[in-house]
Amino acid sequence: MKKVNVVLGSFYGDEGKGKIIDYLSQNADISVRCTGGNNAGHSIEVNGKKFAFHLIPSGILNEKTLAVIGNGVVIDPKVLIEEINTVKENGYSTKNLKISDKAHVIFPYHIEMDKLLESLRKEGKIGTTARGIGPAYCDKYERCGIRMGDLVSKRFEKQLRKNIENKNRIFEMYNYETIDADKVVEEYNKYADFLKEYVVDTVYLLHNALEEDKQILCEGAQATLLDIDFGSYPFVTSSNPTIGGICTGTGIAAKDIGEVYGVLKAYSSRVGEGPYLTEQNNEIGDTIRELGHEYGTTTKRPRRCGWLDLVALKYAVMVNGITGLAINHVDTIGKLDKIKLCVAYKKDGKESMRFSTDMDYLEGCTPVYEEFDGNFGDISNIKNREDLPENAKKYLNRIEEIVKVPIKFIGTGAGRDSMIIC
Ligand code: IMO
Ligand code: MG
Repeated sequence: MKKVNVVLGSFYGDEGKGKIIDYLSQNADISVRCTGGNNAGHSIEVNGKKFAFHLIPSGILNEKTLAVIGNGVVIDPKVLIEEINTVKENGYSTKNLKISDKAHVIFPYHIEMDKLLESLRKEGKIGTTARGIGPAYCDKYERCGIRMGDLVSKRFEKQLRKNIENKNRIFEMYNYETIDADKVVEEYNKYADFLKEYVVDTVYLLHNALEEDKQILCEGAQATLLDIDFGSYPFVTSSNPTIGGICTGTGIAAKDIGEVYGVLKAYSSRVGEGPYLTEQNNEIGDTIRELGHEYGTTTKRPRRCGWLDLVALKYAVMVNGITGLAINHVDTIGKLDKIKLCVAYKKDGKESMRFSTDMDYLEGCTPVYEEFDGNFGDISNIKNREDLPENAKKYLNRIEEIVKVPIKFIGTGAGRDSMIIC
């Protein structure tokens, strides 16, 4: 049995990865965040209490699980410290938290740059979360970034002052407020003292664990169609939330990866700008948004909602090597009378299963829908797939039939336990 399992988002994020991660982490010795930063938002419910994590792996709430923030993550220390304090205040220990010394640090100039760049894009705006994610990754690749190891060993002041000087030149150019270097140095020295105990070489930590046959769960953030390479560029995030990011974001080798769970909803949603073929910018979309509480965990923005797109799902399966599907919000879609499922795209009279976000391709492309009956009723306590109402079975079977990947999890309600494990 392979020792590393992976949970990934299949569409544009917010598929409910946290719920699957939370379940799987019960049997994991280690749960790891690999990419992204606090642009992600996992909300999970434990003992009736709702937690929203942006950086800390959800596994933190399972005492016996080591929660690791891998090198591929960009960390806003202020946010991380707030989360650590929330965990502690709720009576959980954070002794099981480990942070990679190679993870890059987000500074205030990243956040300001994110906002400035977004304002300059005008109509072409991406709709970023304004958390400084893109600019932090830019600095990483530009090789002027500051890593957690530099931060906690206080080897960062010279580079930080140089960075601030350079960024301030740009801010001045746009008559934008500049950053006070002394203030940032002082603030980040405090963060360094707080976070020092958590920072380690997580590459060796993970490989030593594998040597000892420990089970590792990799928690994906964001999702396939937000991938910088495979997503709907430029309306994407600045990292690789697809399977490759799991390796580069942790140092885990491809050969160690076992199950790859692709999480999706029984409908679809998207935050921010960019093409979205099955979007229902109408009453149906509004109904789905209300029924599914589709408002951002991170930015509170109302999400765009629409039907499930199997052309896109097949693409996610292909790019990530997804071995099992986790479908959330089956209860939500079951509240509608009629449900539509996109089973192909039609262009120039021809049907195709080829996904693309290329605007030229999408021009004149329409989704081909199959219609299903809804009204599933209350399914939140059902524990076996066979016990689901016929309408729900028909819908799920058809998804499996087209995508050719087995469904492993079925989300039947908001609670942690409202899930069918197949
Ligand atoms: P989880 O982990 C949904 C979107 C933003 C924007 C684009 C780029 O909760 O699924 P960024 O701030 O990353 O530069 O923004 O990506 N985005 C997400 N949308 N869920 C997320 O994470 C997202 N993370 C980024 O809305 O369109
Ligand atoms: Mg989100």
